[in-house]
Amino acid sequence: MRKKIIAGNWKMNMTPTEAVNLVNTLKPLVNNEDVDVVFCVPAIDIIPAMEAAKGTNIHIGAENMYFEESGAYTGEISPKMLEDAGVKYVVIGHSERREYFAETDETVNKKVLKALEHGITPIICCGESLTQREQGITIDWIRQQIKIAFLNVTADQAKTTVIAYEPIWAIGTGKTATTEQAEEVCAAIRACIGEIYDEATADAIRIQYGGSVNAGNAAELFAQPDIDGGLVGGASLKPDFGKIVCYNK
Ligand code: PGA
Repeated sequence: MRKKIIAGNWKMNMTPTEAVNLVNTLKPLVNNEDVDVVFCVPAIDIIPAMEAAKGTNIHIGAENMYFEESGAYTGEISPKMLEDAGVKYVVIGHSERREYFAETDETVNKKVLKALEHGITPIICCGESLTQREQGITIDWIRQQIKIAFLNVTADQAKTTVIAYEPIWAIGTGKTATTEQAEEVCAAIRACIGEIYDEATADAIRIQYGGSVNAGNAAELFAQPDIDGGLVGGASLKPDFGKIVCYNK
């Protein structure tokens, strides 16, 4: 049985002071022993959010990192910095990073390998645009993203990773994929992992759905056989996130 993993993606929201307040507000609301709970926060919020989350079930994650160890990369955060801070999860290749910051499947692959090298679990994002869905190439597109993201990743490493399927047209739009659409793609991702590796790896890997997840649709989405939780943007900044994490209570 795969343990569910529900992660908030704060994006570029919350000052350090606001971050501490939000962790304190959500702390009592996100108690669910059936779920791994992760708050992926802006880099500057990582340390104060961790302090605020001490002694709770909340893991603090990062929203991005660079694929080099150190050096002349002004403005970037290294995997070693995250590791030293005690970060266990990092979002890699979010569609906003791909769209606004020129990330590609190749840089995603480099980051995935680096995160794993440092003992950090990558939450690897994939997803199609509305045009791609209308063109009928969703599954082909996602399979390509997955195949490149996992190049040179061993089966044992792959088992520990998390994949987030996020249709771009559903992100921040209030337009959630239907349960059937979300399950279809998550099942196809699992099948693709099975092809690259084996059944044991496909069974072990956790696949999230993301895109306008809210307190009203979480339970149905997370009840699907191939959906092992969610990556939540907007709703992760509100007390509603507690309802999403406690979807089965
Ligand atoms: P949303 O964002 O929940 O606001 O749609 C999801 C995400 O981008 O991870």
